[in-house]
Amino acid sequence: MDKKIILVTGATSGLGREEARAFLKQGHTVVLHGRNRDKALTVQKELITETGNSEVEVLIADLESLASVKRMTEEFTAKYDRLDVLVNNAGNQYGGTWAATAEGHEKTMTVNLFAPVLLSLLLIDSLKKSRHGRIVTVSSASHAQGGRPYLGDIELKDHYSYIRAYGLSKLYVIWAMRALRKHLSAQGVESIDVNTTHPGMAKSSLGETDQRPWLLRPVFALAYLFGTSTEKGAQPTIHAATAPEIEGLSDRYYGPKGEKKVSERYYTPENEKAVWDYCLKVLDPYLS
Ligand SMILES: NC(=O)c1ccc[n+]([C@@H]2O[C@H](COP(=O)([O-])OP(=O)(O)OC[C@H]3O[C@@H](n4cnc5c(N)ncnc54)[C@H](OP(=O)(O)O)[C@@H]3O)[C@@H](O)[C@H]2O)c1
Repeated sequence: MDKKIILVTGATSGLGREEARAFLKQGHTVVLHGRNRDKALTVQKELITETGNSEVEVLIADLESLASVKRMTEEFTAKYDRLDVLVNNAGNQYGGTWAATAEGHEKTMTVNLFAPVLLSLLLIDSLKKSRHGRIVTVSSASHAQGGRPYLGDIELKDHYSYIRAYGLSKLYVIWAMRALRKHLSAQGVESIDVNTTHPGMAKSSLGETDQRPWLLRPVFALAYLFGTSTEKGAQPTIHAATAPEIEGLSDRYYGPKGEKKVSERYYTPENEKAVWDYCLKVLDPYLS
């Protein structure tokens, strides 16, 4: 087996914890990202007991802070000479009203779009050192439910709603990952696969927040009842990260039933470029 170094964001609960567990069981080294050190250290211990593989290290960053994301990549590169797979799993849902991070960006877009793009860009050199690298980003079937994009207002200052922010962040991150693949090709880098996944509806703590609009709570509670296990929900991402037969493939979107088509309702190359350019503008202070 090709033993890999795999960084999983949001590995302290739900799908990310399950993905980390699967990678350890497969014999890989896992770098487990969390935002709360005590929680991450507890999960680290549990995973060692559950898998018998002690090659799991912890990195801490709050993805609401792009400066914190940058610090985390510096810690990673100081310790590891290469990265084989980056799994951008962490994601979040916020409340019914627009809210900004301490750095001034809308929270949903920061955690679900800007942070994974920044992490990917800052870890490209480490991924280039892999025999064949992979970037896997967890999107959602909700990418088709955010309605029409507002490309002049990507952070939704004037168009915010809970559903729109989450849905559009998951659509934009698919477009941004496709744009990233093009950006790599333009630099002659073909040794890194870039793909996205969706877990279906899995029972996790996603969106367990008092801020969720109360009208929507019964809808989510009902959907939760019909949700699958995190073990099943994690499978598309585990597949995209490690299945040998898909090495070399990019721009794929994997779900619980295999490869799936992304909703192209609002896709145009110009829209994809607008999202990518906006990400680069936001991330510019953190990229050097
Ligand atoms: N569950 C589903 O049905 C479903 C469906 C579609 C897509 N997804 C996507 O799947 C991914 C995993 O979600 P999940 O369902 O496993 O939810 P979860 O149980 O809430 O796990 C989310 C993970 O992300 C971390 N996280 C959230 N905000 C963060 C921040 N600001 N900084 C650092 N880490 C942060 C959480 O850390 P803590 O442990 O500290 O909270 C946790 O480890 C997300 O991208 C989500 O959008 C899930």
